[in-house]
Amino acid sequence: MTVAPEAMCAATVPALRPSEYTAALIQALQSDRDRVRGARVLEIGSGSGIVLAALGAMGAAALCGVDIEPDAIAAGCRLLGGLGLGATAEFHRGDMWLPVAGRRFDLIVANLPHFPMEPVPVAGRLPTWSSGGSDGRWLLDPFLEGLPVHLSPGGRAVLTHNAFVELDRSRAIARDHGLSLRVLLTVMVYIAEEKIARMTPRVLRAEEGRSLHRYGPHTIGEMHIVEISAAQP
Ligand SMILES: C[S@@+](CC[C@H](N)C(=O)[O-])C[C@H]1O[C@@H](n2cnc3c(N)ncnc32)[C@H](O)[C@@H]1O
Repeated sequence: MTVAPEAMCAATVPALRPSEYTAALIQALQSDRDRVRGARVLEIGSGSGIVLAALGAMGAAALCGVDIEPDAIAAGCRLLGGLGLGATAEFHRGDMWLPVAGRRFDLIVANLPHFPMEPVPVAGRLPTWSSGGSDGRWLLDPFLEGLPVHLSPGGRAVLTHNAFVELDRSRAIARDHGLSLRVLLTVMVYIAEEKIARMTPRVLRAEEGRSLHRYGPHTIGEMHIVEISAAQP
């Protein structure tokens, strides 16, 4: 297993807890296993490492994880090593595309922090886990902009996309780069009171009753799993 720097793998950290967003992402990927087998995979924001572990179990040929948090690098590295997937895995600590500059992948997956709120720790998570800035797009936009130079010909990206974070804008960015976006799956996810309290008021006002459904103190929101595809070679 390649890890940069190597000592990170040895660090002892509590396992990071995957979310229901990640579970839905894995569900969508599992529904088309044939397209995973043999693929060279990249995950931006690999966190616990569970998505790469699932893709490894589906037969991906190579697994590359990037995360900005050292604890995530250690967690992913330990998870994949423990599952016997270490030989096909590499992890890099860094910001978004920087650690994989100049490289292309058949499948790029991401469950990026894209909740519309300023960076603060919520629900026991680091600020880098959920916050996507006031419109939720701080990381989503650079992720979309980087796809054309990181997808192999005929490759695809599969990512989580809150319904209250302007799906049409993502579709337009993809189209401007010659990529096509389609929704694979839509699920409802529970949104903690603490997060709703910090959600950008403009977004909350616009989306309540549309993609956000509130029942007393409880809120559930719509979340899409989207696929963005490059043209076939
Ligand atoms: C919502 S979590 C998803 C993690 C993973 N899918 C899981 O369930 O364990 C988002 C991840 O993105 C990482 N992240 C945040 N900002 C990043 C950046 N600029 N570059 C790379 N990773 C980043 C966080 O550290 C976190 O691990």
